[in-house]
Amino acid sequence: MATTENIYIHNDASANSKRNIKTNIRLILFPLILCVLLVLIQSLVNNELDKPSNRCGCTCVDTGNGQCERRCGIEYSTLTQAFTCPITHPPEWPPLLQLPEQQYRAVRTDYISYGDLPDESCKRTGSCPVIMLITGNNQTIAQSVAGNMLARPSSINFSDMPYSLADYALGSETKTRNTNFLEAAFFSNRPVDYIQPQCPSNSQFSVSLELGSVAVQQDVRCVRGLHLWRNSSSEINDEIYKGYRKGNPEERINEIVAAYDFLNTNENLFNVSIWYNATYKNDTGNQPLGLTRVPRSVNLASNAYLQLLLGPSARIAFEFVKEMPKPGTKLTLDFSSLLGPLFFTWVIVQLFPVVLTALVYEKEHRLRIMMKMHGLGDGPYWMISYAYFLAISSTYMLCFVIFGSVIGLKFFTLNDYTIQFVFYFIYINLQISLAFLVADLFSNVKTATVVGYLMVFGTGLLGGFLFQFFLQDASFPKAGLIAMELFPGFSLYRGLFEFSQYAFNGAYMGTNGMEWKDLNDSNNGMKEVLIIISVEWLVVLCFAYYADQVVSSGKSPLFFLRRHQKKLSSSFRKPSLRRQGSKVFVEMEKADVVQEREKVEQLLLESSTSHSIICDNLKKIYPGKDGNPEKFAVRELSLALPSGECFGMLGPNGAGKTSFINMMIGLIKPSFGTAYVEGLDIRTDMDRIYTSMGVCPQHDLLWETLTGREHLLFYGRLKNLKGAALTQAVEESLKSVNLFHGGVADKKSGKYSGGMKRRLSVAISLIGDPKVVYMDEPSTGLDPASRNMLWNVVRRAKQDRAIILTTHSMEEAEHLCDRLGIFVDGSLQCVGNPKELKARYGGSYVFTMTTSSNHEEEVENLVRNLSPNSTKIYQISGTQKFELPKHETRISDVFQAVDNAKSRFTVQAWGLADTTLEDVFIKVARGAQAFNVLS
Ligand SMILES: *[C@@H]1O[C@H](CO)[C@@H](O)[C@H](O)[C@H]1NC(C)=O
Ligand SMILES: *[C@@H]1O[C@H](CO)[C@@H](O)[C@H](O)[C@H]1NC(C)=O
Ligand SMILES: *[C@@H]1O[C@H](CO)[C@@H](O)[C@H](O)[C@H]1NC(C)=O
Ligand SMILES: *[C@@H]1O[C@H](CO)[C@@H](O)[C@H](O)[C@H]1NC(C)=O
Ligand SMILES: *[C@@H]1O[C@H](CO)[C@@H](O)[C@H](O)[C@H]1NC(C)=O
Ligand SMILES: *[C@@H]1O[C@H](CO)[C@@H](O)[C@H](O)[C@H]1NC(C)=O
Repeated sequence: MATTENIYIHNDASANSKRNIKTNIRLILFPLILCVLLVLIQSLVNNELDKPSNRCGCTCVDTGNGQCERRCGIEYSTLTQAFTCPITHPPEWPPLLQLPEQQYRAVRTDYISYGDLPDESCKRTGSCPVIMLITGNNQTIAQSVAGNMLARPSSINFSDMPYSLADYALGSETKTRNTNFLEAAFFSNRPVDYIQPQCPSNSQFSVSLELGSVAVQQDVRCVRGLHLWRNSSSEINDEIYKGYRKGNPEERINEIVAAYDFLNTNENLFNVSIWYNATYKNDTGNQPLGLTRVPRSVNLASNAYLQLLLGPSARIAFEFVKEMPKPGTKLTLDFSSLLGPLFFTWVIVQLFPVVLTALVYEKEHRLRIMMKMHGLGDGPYWMISYAYFLAISSTYMLCFVIFGSVIGLKFFTLNDYTIQFVFYFIYINLQISLAFLVADLFSNVKTATVVGYLMVFGTGLLGGFLFQFFLQDASFPKAGLIAMELFPGFSLYRGLFEFSQYAFNGAYMGTNGMEWKDLNDSNNGMKEVLIIISVEWLVVLCFAYYADQVVSSGKSPLFFLRRHQKKLSSSFRKPSLRRQGSKVFVEMEKADVVQEREKVEQLLLESSTSHSIICDNLKKIYPGKDGNPEKFAVRELSLALPSGECFGMLGPNGAGKTSFINMMIGLIKPSFGTAYVEGLDIRTDMDRIYTSMGVCPQHDLLWETLTGREHLLFYGRLKNLKGAALTQAVEESLKSVNLFHGGVADKKSGKYSGGMKRRLSVAISLIGDPKVVYMDEPSTGLDPASRNMLWNVVRRAKQDRAIILTTHSMEEAEHLCDRLGIFVDGSLQCVGNPKELKARYGGSYVFTMTTSSNHEEEVENLVRNLSPNSTKIYQISGTQKFELPKHETRISDVFQAVDNAKSRFTVQAWGLADTTLEDVFIKVARGAQAFNVLS
C-alpha cells in the first residue's frame, strides 16, 4: 500500500504542476514584477531627486574670449543645490549667537515681574533688547565680566573680513540647518545682529564678505543687549522655566539669549555654568540644531574674563567656525525601508488567497471527491497539496528575496539570510496550514477570493497604521503586543518591521542588519514572533487536518474515538443473528431477488469466481438526526455481476442508488455486509480495488483549466499507467469517445459543451482498463446524437468488464443493460433482463383515449365491456388511461369498439400500446412504495 501511495504522490504532483503551470508562472512572476516596479519607482524617485535643481549647481563662466567654461560647485548653487556639492574646503563663518525672535524676547509680564525687564510696549515698536541673565557668588565680579562681554571693539578692520567681524558679539534670529556648510544667517535677507549695551542712532552698516568663494553683501545691525543680575541660579531657573514657550504659544513667551552663573569665580579662578537653549529645531529634522551657536556664548564669557584680568586689548580670538569637508552626494531615498513592512506584508500575505482559492476550487468543483473516487486518499491528498503549495510559496519567496537582493534592497542584503530563511519558511507554512483550515469554511471560490484579498489588504493596513503605532509606543505593555501577534498577519508584520529597523539602522551606521545574536536584544520582537508562528503552525496544521476530516469527509467530530468502538461492536456481532434477520426479510422479497441472493450465497462458498462484483447483504443506515428515526439508505442488497455484463439500476430519486455507488467506490463505509470487487473486500482492500475501478460521477467533475488529454493523463497515472502505455491508452480513449479529432483533446475542458464533458467523464472512468466501472446517469442532459455516441462507447466498453449504471432513461436501460434491477427505498424490487421484466410485469395493454370530459363515463363503459378486469390508471380532463389484461383482450375487439364509439361521440385521440419498460418501472416503484407505506 505504501508503494502505491508513493506512486500517487509522484504522479499527482506532476499532474498538479502541469495543471497549474500558467497560474504558477503568473504567481512567481508577481514578486519579480513587484520588484521591477519597485526599481522603476525607485529610479523615478531618484530621477525626481536628481533634477538640476537638486544637483550641485553649475554655471557657464565667460572666460573672456567669448568662450564659456562650465564650472560646478557650491558657489554656483542655490541653497538646496549646495547640499549635494562636494565641499573640499568648507567656508568659514564668524561664530554667531542664537537670538530669540523679536516677538518672543523677554519682557515684563504678570508672571515674571522683575523691574529690570523691558516694558511690553517694545514689542510693538520692534525694539525689544535681547536679555542675558547673570548670577554668581560675587556680584561685583560677575557684573564686570558681563559688562566686558558686550563691549564694542575699538575699531573694525574692514580689510580683514570676515574674521574681524568676530570681535563683535554677533547673533542671528535665523535658525541653523542640519548641515552648516552654508550658514543660513548669511544667506537670508535679514541683517546679522551685533549686540551692544546701547545702540548708536545710525547703527546699520553693510560689509562685503568673501565666504568661501561666494561673495556676499551682508547688512550688519546693532541690537541692544542687557545683562541682568539675579540673586541666585534658582531664580534664573525659575524665570527661564516660566518663560518657556509651551502649550499655547501665545501664553508663555519670554526667551533669553543665555544665562551665566559665575559661581565662585574670582581673580584666580574662572568657574562658570551657562544656560543655553538647544531645542531650536528645524521642522524637517529632528536633531537639535542650536548647538552650533553655543560655542560663541562660552567664548564670550572667557574672553570677557580675560579682559577683566589683562585689560581690553587682551582677547581669545574665536574667528570662525566651519563644517567638516565632504564629498559630493546625491539625494537618495531608500525605498524599501520607507515602504518597509507594509509593502512586504502585502507581498507575502497575497499567497494566502492563492492557496485558499485553489483549495476551495477543488472543493467547489468536487474534484477532491473525484480524485478520491479514483483512489487518491485523504492522507496522500493532503501531503501532495501541502507539498505543492509549499513548493509554490517557497519558490515565490525565493524569487522575491533573490530579486530584492539583486536590485540591492537593503532590507534583504543587510539582514542575515539564515534568519530571513527561517522566518519566511515558518511563516509560509503557517499561512498554508491556515488556508487549509479556512478553506473548510468556504464552498464558493468567489467568496473565498473576496475574503482572502480583503484579509490581505486589511492585514497590511491594520499592521501599518494600528499595530505599528503600538509597536513604536514604548509604554505599550509587551504582553499586549504578544497578544496581538497571535494574529498571524501581525506576527508577520512584526517580523518584517524588525528586519526593516535593523536594515535601516545598519544602513545608517554602516553595519550589518539583524544577526542571530541580535535575537537577544530586549527590543527585538523577532524571538517571540518565531516562537509564536512555529507553535501556531503545528497547532493550526493539526486542527486543519481534523476539521477537514470532519467537514469534507463527513466524519463525526469525535471520529478518532468512534472508530475504536465500531471495531469492537462489529467483532462481537454473531453471524447467526444476521442470517436469521435476512430470512425474515427474504419472505417478503420477490422471487428473482431471492434467487439473486441465493446465487450470491452460492458464489461466496466457491473459492474462485468469474464474477467481478458480488454484493453480500450490503446495508447502509444513516443514524437518526434531530429526533428523526434512522434512515435506511440501502437494505440488505445482494447482487452478483459477471464480467462483461452491464447492470442497470433504475429507481426513483432518493431510492439509495447513489448511496450504493458511494459504498462501492469507498466514499462511505457500509453499515453491515460487504461487497467483493474482483475478489477484494471493499471494507479492507479499497486501495487495491481503486486500480481496477472507474467512476463516471453524476456531475462532470473536471478542472476547467485542464485539457481533455491532461485529465486522461492524470487519471491514467492514478491507475498506474506509465510512459508509452499511458500515451497509447490516452489516445485510444480519446478516439473512442470521439474527442480526438480537430484538436478538441487539447482544448480546455472549461470550453467543452455539455456532451463533450460527459464523454470525457466516461472516458476518464474507462481509462486504465478498469475491470469494474460505475456510471451515475452517464447520459443526462445530452442531445440524442451525443447520447448515441456515448452509448456506443459504453456498449464497446462493456465487452470485458462489469458496468453498473444508474439511469432514469428507460431507453438507455434497454439499449445498454443486460440486466436491470429496480431499486426502491433501499432494496431491489426485481432483477432481470429487460425482456423478462416486460413479460413479467407487462401482462396487459395500455389503452388511452381522449374525449371531451362529458363522455368520460361512456369511455369507461366501453373499456369495461372490452375487458371486465381492466383498471383505470390515469385520468385528466378527458384523457384516460386503462390497463387491459392481455388474456382477456383481443386487439380486433378494441378496434371495433373504438369505431363504434367514434360514431356516437367525438374521439379526439386514442391509442393502444404494449407495456413499455417505463410502465414496468412505474408499476414496480408504485407497488413497492405502497407496500412500504403499509408496513
Ligand atoms: C568680590 O570681588 C571683589 C573684587 O575681586 C573683591 O574685592 C570683594 O571682596 C569680593 N566680595 C566678596 C564678598 O568676596
Ligand atoms: C587689517 O587687516 C589686514 C589683513 O589682515 C592687516 O594687514 C592690517 O594690518 C589690519 N589693519 C589694522 C589697522 O589692524
Ligand atoms: C536680591 O538681593 C537684594 C540684596 O540682598 C535684595 O534687595 C533683593 O530684594 C533681592 N531680590 C529678590 C528678587 O529676591
Ligand atoms: C528654546 O527654543 C525653542 C525653539 O525655538 C522655543 O520654543 C523655546 O521657547 C525656547 N526656550 C527658551 C527658554 O527660550
Ligand atoms: C565650580 O563650581 C561648582 C558649583 O558651585 C563647584 O562644585 C566646583 O567645585 C567649582 N570648581 C572649582 C574649581 O572651584
Ligand atoms: C528648515 O529648513 C528648510 C530648508 O532646509 C527651510 O525652508 C525652513 O524654513 C526651515 N525651518 C525653520 C523653522 O527654520
